[in-house]
Amino acid sequence: MELKNKVALVTGGDRGIGRAIVLALARKGARVIVNYHRNLQAAQETKKQVEELGADAYILKFDVSKRKEVRDALLSLPEDWRCIEILINNAGILGSKFQFMHIDDEEWDRVFNINVKGAFIVTQEVLRFMKKGKIVNIASIAGRNGGTVGAHYAASKAALIGLTFALASQLAPEILVNAVAPGPVDTELIPEDRKSSLAKLSLLGRIATSDEVAHAVIFLLENDYITGSVVDVNGGRYMI
Ligand SMILES: NC(=O)c1ccc[n+]([C@@H]2O[C@H](COP(=O)([O-])OP(=O)(O)OC[C@H]3O[C@@H](n4cnc5c(N)ncnc54)[C@H](OP(=O)(O)O)[C@@H]3O)[C@@H](O)[C@H]2O)c1
Repeated sequence: MELKNKVALVTGGDRGIGRAIVLALARKGARVIVNYHRNLQAAQETKKQVEELGADAYILKFDVSKRKEVRDALLSLPEDWRCIEILINNAGILGSKFQFMHIDDEEWDRVFNINVKGAFIVTQEVLRFMKKGKIVNIASIAGRNGGTVGAHYAASKAALIGLTFALASQLAPEILVNAVAPGPVDTELIPEDRKSSLAKLSLLGRIATSDEVAHAVIFLLENDYITGSVVDVNGGRYMI
């Protein structure tokens, strides 16, 4: 798929991996809708960086887990931004409890509502506009091997991978659906004091950069014969 002039929506596009995906799309000449939840300042900085690349960005606030907010926000888009052909379900949270017995119902629901139900809601609402194109879900190695984080986070990312497979079979051939499963990435999601121990879990001795994840997303968007796949970006973690 040629990305130039395509309209892309990146949830949680204001910072972290989402910002790197937004900028990678902008470098390809795509027009990018930068969704954010709370951090308007980060969204404005991302828009500025997109414009410095000579591309267009549109900031759109919504909480991915709130159906009405998502619908109203999408309906508020100017006509020439509604022709979304690329959706990146990137918004996600880690949760604050890592020990299984410390996860209460509220914490479980909070993680699932954003990481899984959020992707479900945004995808359904975007499909009202999108008739052909690509969807990439940002999963995690935790959804493949359980990871070293909370069980709720791991289960939510495994669910997102299941959603990817189901959507790939239901939406082909018009819409191709894939996931990227990164290992630890250098963003604010990972507590600073865990980054060096996580680096040791990679054959490459370091955690990934957001740009390395964005690169895999662009690969999936440009390729027209991959659907229902999960691309691992984890520095050889399975071999450790
Ligand atoms: N960092 C890693 O090691 C790693 C590894 C594997 C997978 N991932 C996945 O990659 C994705 C991005 O992670 P990141 O590391 O870039 O995290 P991050 O730096 O913490 O950024 C999280 C992003 O999600 C947005 N967000 C959170 N809740 C939201 C909601 N309810 N509605 C809309 N947006 C919401 C945030 O928006 P605001 O800024 O407005 O709050 C922010 O843009 C997540 O799905 C994460 O699970 C990350």
